[in-house]
Amino acid sequence: GQGAGMVTAVTLRLAAQRREVDQLLAPLRLSRADLERVQALMRREMELGLGCQTNANASVRMLPTYVRSTPDGTERGEFLALDLGGTNFRVLVVRVAQDSIHIASEVYVIPTTIMQGPGEALFDHIIECIMDFQLKQDLMEHVLPLGFTFSFPCQQLGLDKAVLLSWTKGFSATGCVGQDVVQLLQEAAQRKQHLGLKVVAVVNDTVGTMMSCGYDDPNCEIGLIVGTGTNACYMEEMKNVGTVKGEQGRMCINMEWGAFGDNGCLDDIFTDFDRLVDKKTINAGKQRFEKLISGMYLGEIVRHILLALVEKQLLFRGKPCPKLQTKDIFPTKFLSTIEIPWAGDGDGDGGANGARGSDGLALRQVQAILQDLELQASFEDSMLVREVCQTVSTRAAHLCAAGLAAVVEKMRENRGLAQLAVTVGVDGTLYKMHPHFSQHLQHMLQELAPNCTVTFLQSEDGSGKGAALVAAVACRGTKP
Ligand code: GLC
Repeated sequence: GQGAGMVTAVTLRLAAQRREVDQLLAPLRLSRADLERVQALMRREMELGLGCQTNANASVRMLPTYVRSTPDGTERGEFLALDLGGTNFRVLVVRVAQDSIHIASEVYVIPTTIMQGPGEALFDHIIECIMDFQLKQDLMEHVLPLGFTFSFPCQQLGLDKAVLLSWTKGFSATGCVGQDVVQLLQEAAQRKQHLGLKVVAVVNDTVGTMMSCGYDDPNCEIGLIVGTGTNACYMEEMKNVGTVKGEQGRMCINMEWGAFGDNGCLDDIFTDFDRLVDKKTINAGKQRFEKLISGMYLGEIVRHILLALVEKQLLFRGKPCPKLQTKDIFPTKFLSTIEIPWAGDGDGDGGANGARGSDGLALRQVQAILQDLELQASFEDSMLVREVCQTVSTRAAHLCAAGLAAVVEKMRENRGLAQLAVTVGVDGTLYKMHPHFSQHLQHMLQELAPNCTVTFLQSEDGSGKGAALVAAVACRGTKP
């Protein structure tokens, strides 16, 4: 009768909507073959970056760090450490003793106006923070060796000389690119009459993380960051590093993999949403791989997808969402909240029972987030928003796995092993806070690099601790 006809009409409409949603999300769902291709491309870019003749044409810069070994446990001393380039700017004092590392630290905010203003103001601000910290810690009279975790691409000419190649993430302070950041810091110290600054090492945050995890696990020869930005470092054979003299031993290479794809090699992976996000950043066309993976961008990708779904009348009944037009109004931490498992997940009903029934709490969290954006979300809307978040974060984790697979496979081949066991030291807010990112990353890595057994070790205070450990080695080198 008529009732049955209406049911059929509704069913047909839902099926049509489902097809449209799937069509819109399809380019974000990378197949196993896509990921294998990304892995192969990463491997190729790594080789180009390591070669002396080819380095200039590689999108992955493969920067030598002058760190030649992971910690051996004999490092000792008291150090200052700076950590610039993540969510927060931190100043630390790190005491490395025989069987413990003690850390005290303060977090300082760097306002956007300083991140994107004149370079002098940025480095003046850093010195002011150091002075405030030394005052608070009663360290004014001490000249402690300083390890500087500076999480941007640098051409290092030694442990304590690092020329900034380009800013990434939210930074664009003028007058810094092409300069040695140690010198910029020292000049600021002079302006502020701070006379006791002794910078002994500059390290990338990936390197700091690898070193700090390496202190606990000698197998840790890879560092990974998935936070505001993303990047990795690993121990490479000196004989493969065409950009530094010498054939003996190994050196840690800061890959700067965030720039992977800046030469166009990932163009068929990018979606319209990725292109939109990229266009609206302060470094359009740059850090393209990073913009698919890291915390500074995932929320933006989701926001653009949601706008497209509204536009196609597939979400919020097609009602316009003025607030959702605002850049960065949907931060990546929303993905972590929205994707928290619902009680009904995993029992084959797509979460429907759980979300409607016992675990209405999780659903209400999603609705609360959307309500703050002045969006009236039905149950179906909330489910769809969650699906979008899952699609975007899963793609990020899988791409990260493809990158890491290229790294561990290269290390395995370097060492002529049938099977490699290696530990990855990891840090970054996205990796640590997201409910599924690490699982998806590990699972796909195992698929893509079946001959490697990879253990992940989360770092605590990695950047600061690592900078101090590198500083300790540097100091040992200068003392008789
Ligand atoms: C950006 C920086 C890189 C850093 C990463 C993670 O990609 O260029 O140096 O390691 O962010 O913070």
